[in-house]
Amino acid sequence: MKALVGRVCSAVDPLRVGVLVSGSGSNLQALLDRQAGSLYRVVVVVANVAGAFALTRAKDAGVAAVVEGHQGITREAHEARVQVHLEQHQVELLVLGGYMRVLSPWLVGQWRRRIVNVHPALLPSFPGMHAAKQALDHGCRVAGCTVHLVDDGVDTGPILSQAAVPIHDHDDEASLQRRIQNEEHRLLPQVVEAYAAGKVVDVEGRVRCCALS
Ligand code: GAR
Repeated sequence: MKALVGRVCSAVDPLRVGVLVSGSGSNLQALLDRQAGSLYRVVVVVANVAGAFALTRAKDAGVAAVVEGHQGITREAHEARVQVHLEQHQVELLVLGGYMRVLSPWLVGQWRRRIVNVHPALLPSFPGMHAAKQALDHGCRVAGCTVHLVDDGVDTGPILSQAAVPIHDHDDEASLQRRIQNEEHRLLPQVVEAYAAGKVVDVEGRVRCCALS
């Protein structure tokens, strides 16, 4: 049995994308740069950090940009506020673009199979923080990035696409991270476009992105 995850969108009725961010937002920028003529539109960006440069990127692109700080409130209360913005903007797909907070099972449940995360490692290796450093510390010869659907675990969930990045002898964390991010910027918009094109499917309970590797 093959079932569609999401819906098939069109240029006149694009997929409405919300992006959660905590920092620079270079992955958000990659989505914004490729959305003209695509099947998706970024309609709202929500940051949990007031000074996140991602907010400037959103505003410059004419996209609604909201700060919802998490200090002094419970995770549940914070996520309930985030959820209000997502609903107000009729978001259909949620992208974690460098969002450095673990989501609660409640929020994941609200968005099951509708949250995409980009992670700077070839999962399931090196989940969590400092993935590029972990790859270097292990003496890996290949690193990379993964775009996956989010489930209740940390950096788990069905893998939609991956890209490999060779590790050079002279690499340090910063140089490797830069090359990994270049691949993220290519991969993430491709996966979001594939999702909007109805190319993310559940085959016998296993989710895959058929257009990509
Ligand atoms: C990205 O490299 C992304 O892979 C990583 O944060 C960076 C955010 O950069 N995410 C994670 O590590 C999540 N586990 P950006 O703000 O410039 O898009």
